[in-house]
Amino acid sequence: MRFIHTLIPALALMLAMAAQAQQPQRLELCVACHGPQGNSQNPQFPSLAGQPKVFMENQLVLIREGLRDIPAMKGVLDGLKDADLIVLAKYFSEQVPVPLSTPVDAERYERGKVLARSMLCGTCHLPDYKGREQMPRLAGQHETFLRAVMEEYRDKPGPGRDTVMTNALGGLNNQHLDDLAHFLAHVK
Ligand code: HEC
Ligand code: HEC
Repeated sequence: MRFIHTLIPALALMLAMAAQAQQPQRLELCVACHGPQGNSQNPQFPSLAGQPKVFMENQLVLIREGLRDIPAMKGVLDGLKDADLIVLAKYFSEQVPVPLSTPVDAERYERGKVLARSMLCGTCHLPDYKGREQMPRLAGQHETFLRAVMEEYRDKPGPGRDTVMTNALGGLNNQHLDDLAHFLAHVK
């Protein structure tokens, strides 16, 4: 009996330590900007909830190495190993994205929908725009972020950005980008 009495607390301690090891490092920093469970409350900061794991792993390596330049994230990933980035990517990929509650303009939504179809965005980002592998989720992402990042790809893609997107947005004007961002943010 005495053995059981000492064993149970020891087991509880081991389980607690294992659970702590699972907690992604620097999570509290990430959610300060990217929102609770990666559902961003700031329209300029992208949501991470439900983003494909591979996409986030790639971006986190690029950001840590300074190859994708995000001034707000300067130093945030310093000292983290690849394995730590994989744990962070896995955590956010498993969170459930909360749909945006911003108002929908039916005409802009429809124009964006038609454009996204004719431009074949869904061949890479999937027909429901949930993304896969290295292709990010667009569905339910903040409109402000989507709009800004598309303009960046089209006009002045920074280092580390995939030129596949510069080609995909070639020939689109600002109104096209407005409509695409509005549609994708609210897509059902
Ligand atoms: C001070 C605010 C801030 C903090 C802290 C922060 N980020 Fe970011 N993060 C940003 C901003 C802003 C962007 C988007 C930059 C842009 O406009 O391209 C971004 C982009 C990203 C992206 C790319 C998303 C995409 O859709 O392109 C990933 C992945 C990411 N952050 C993960 C993290 C993780 C993981 C942490 C915690 C270790 C973290 N961030 C901490 C502000 C922050
Ligand atoms: C050939 C495949 C392909 C096509 C077609 C494509 N995309 Fe992409 N898209 C990508 C990849 C890959 C990335 C990640 C790029 C990177 O790593 O810089 C991306 C990134 C993005 C992002 C950045 C999202 C984020 O969270 O950082 C947006 C927005 C986007 N695409 C919108 C579109 C729209 C709108 C269309 C149609 C007009 C489109 N894409 C067509 C492959 C594609």
